[in-house]
Amino acid sequence: MTQLPLQGTGLAGWLYASRCALPSAWAQRAVDDIVAKSVPRNAALDVTGALLFTGARFVQFLEGPAESIVAIRQNILADRRHHDIVTFLSGGRAERVFSNWSLAYAGPSLFVADKVENLFHIGIRHTAEIIDLLEQFVIISEANKP
Ligand SMILES: Cc1cc2nc3c(=O)[nH]c(=O)nc-3n(C[C@H](O)[C@H](O)[C@H](O)COP(=O)(O)O)c2cc1C
Repeated sequence: MTQLPLQGTGLAGWLYASRCALPSAWAQRAVDDIVAKSVPRNAALDVTGALLFTGARFVQFLEGPAESIVAIRQNILADRRHHDIVTFLSGGRAERVFSNWSLAYAGPSLFVADKVENLFHIGIRHTAEIIDLLEQFVIISEANKP
């Protein structure tokens, strides 16, 4: 696991996975609400990124000025709508992956759920593959938007 401290105003990133703590009947509406509120908040902090929700797990990657990432990370870590948060990557980044999205979102599908379960088998050293996977999901879900 890459665990560098996030410092200063340089570009930083945070990639984590967690388990949804919301009853499944409410989860989708709650997640839609999280995304709707996060988009303007992330934009105001110059943060971009992607959130994937399988119905049971979240995988999220956020990138932006280190100070912004630290602030958002603190909120997200304390958020009781999810738990078992595992950090895959936290530290400096050379460039943005999701520069066009304040928070791109890929919602539940069997395909996504299977791929995410596999992440926990391939291990958390493969952070580049996880970010690639997020990018693919985002591209697919953007392409399928009406
Ligand atoms: C899975 C998950 C992802 C989240 N992603 C973001 C995000 O990208 N940006 C954001 O501002 N809040 C995000 N939140 C919400 C924050 O945890 C928190 O509710 C929000 O920053 C507001 O904090 P406040 O209640 O102190 O105002 C997320 C929450 C969850 C459960």
